[in-house]
Amino acid sequence: MASEKRSYANSERLYAQACQVMPGGVNSSLRNILPHLVVKKTAGAMLIDADGNEYIDYQAAFGPPLLGHNHPAVNRRVAEALEAWLLPGVGTTELEIEVARKLQQHVPSAQKVLLCNTGSEATYHAIRVSRAFTGRKKIIKFQGCYHGIHDYVLRNVISPAEKVGKLDAGSAGILPEVLESTLVCAFNRLDEVEQVLAANRGQVAAIILEPIPHNIGCVLPKPGFLEGLRELASAHGAVLIFDEVITGFRHHLGGYQAICGVTPDLTTLGKAMANGFPMAALCGKAAIMDRFMTRPGGDTFFAGTFNGNAVGCAAALATMEMLEREPVHQHVFRLGARLRQGLEEIHSRWGVKATVAGYGSIFLTYFMEGPIEGYADLLRNDVARFVEYRRRLIERGIFKMPLNLKRNHVSYAHTDAHVDRTLEACEDVLKEMFGSPARRPASQSAG
Ligand SMILES: Cc1ncc(COP(=O)(O)O)c(C=O)c1O
Repeated sequence: MASEKRSYANSERLYAQACQVMPGGVNSSLRNILPHLVVKKTAGAMLIDADGNEYIDYQAAFGPPLLGHNHPAVNRRVAEALEAWLLPGVGTTELEIEVARKLQQHVPSAQKVLLCNTGSEATYHAIRVSRAFTGRKKIIKFQGCYHGIHDYVLRNVISPAEKVGKLDAGSAGILPEVLESTLVCAFNRLDEVEQVLAANRGQVAAIILEPIPHNIGCVLPKPGFLEGLRELASAHGAVLIFDEVITGFRHHLGGYQAICGVTPDLTTLGKAMANGFPMAALCGKAAIMDRFMTRPGGDTFFAGTFNGNAVGCAAALATMEMLEREPVHQHVFRLGARLRQGLEEIHSRWGVKATVAGYGSIFLTYFMEGPIEGYADLLRNDVARFVEYRRRLIERGIFKMPLNLKRNHVSYAHTDAHVDRTLEACEDVLKEMFGSPARRPASQSAG
């Protein structure tokens, strides 16, 4: 696929207007990229900008539209639900009961369920209730994992080398004492977790992790790591929280826990749960969930004006029913595997030193050699190449987020033809960037 000279004139003009009214012109920190894009339309696997440029979209808004953008069945269900009610804000509705039932049915840890609107709310409530339940202050998170915007967890995500494992606040304005209560371990290092638990005996309320850290692309848990965390959490009386905001629904209706067979105490869900509509959930052991004040006698506050609204609930139900009914996971896993294999073949043809990583519908190319077992390994990724590759792909109508370590997502709306076009464009760009055919060794796969 040849690179055409694309115009971004309308995007630039509108972006300049956006900057007059919004700091940086965007409503979420990582959306400010080059080229500045003003999106006019999304549909299925495609994204169309204000200049009419079309892109096969793998960014997928950081993950929600697993069925594809603007899925008609989901949208229709939302419109139908709105004919009855939107937000009673008192008591409950049958739709909320149905959504909670579905989660209980599919997610192994979901003895009880509460609905909210964002992943950040879900992880916030999960940690607060863990503290209430254990009477302890500290939590453990992992370097490279992201769990949302709040102070409990906003540290040590994509850290510079000198701050790996040390204090790396994700924002100004966070109370230092809150950050100090969040201990950081390296992913896949059970020995470190054991040491930190021993050094803080009786003080750790919860261990929170993405079971596959997708906020740094894709780092797979080593065999025994999740099982080991389960044992350590139980032995030390800490609550084990799987943050399945990305892995939930995208990899399996029951979350990654349904695949790996390790059941956490609490689970947070969001993103693909409602195919793009705002919806999230916290679920887990009844003994912990019953601490919430939604139950008379509970002592842990849980609230939200928009919780359980018809839009999110109808979209979640429609999405989950599609996932039950249609071979969505089979499709996205197959196309994900095709992309990973195709990229590896291209890399070995052109002697590109790279590692193709991924799982299921997630894939990406790190410009480095393996092994990749944790965030520290990813410091070897060639950031300039990583971003340059994606910028050149954008020029060819393939949209992958041009930011370091960001993953790509396949949806049910992507087809083999999209994969063919993508691989063709990737080969063209890599040819441009790496020149003449293979002199160097083949690439490696992280899975
Ligand atoms: C694993 C994980 N947890 C929590 C969140 C926060 O979710 P939200 O952006 O809906 O608040 C994210 C968002 O990217 C995430 O990737």
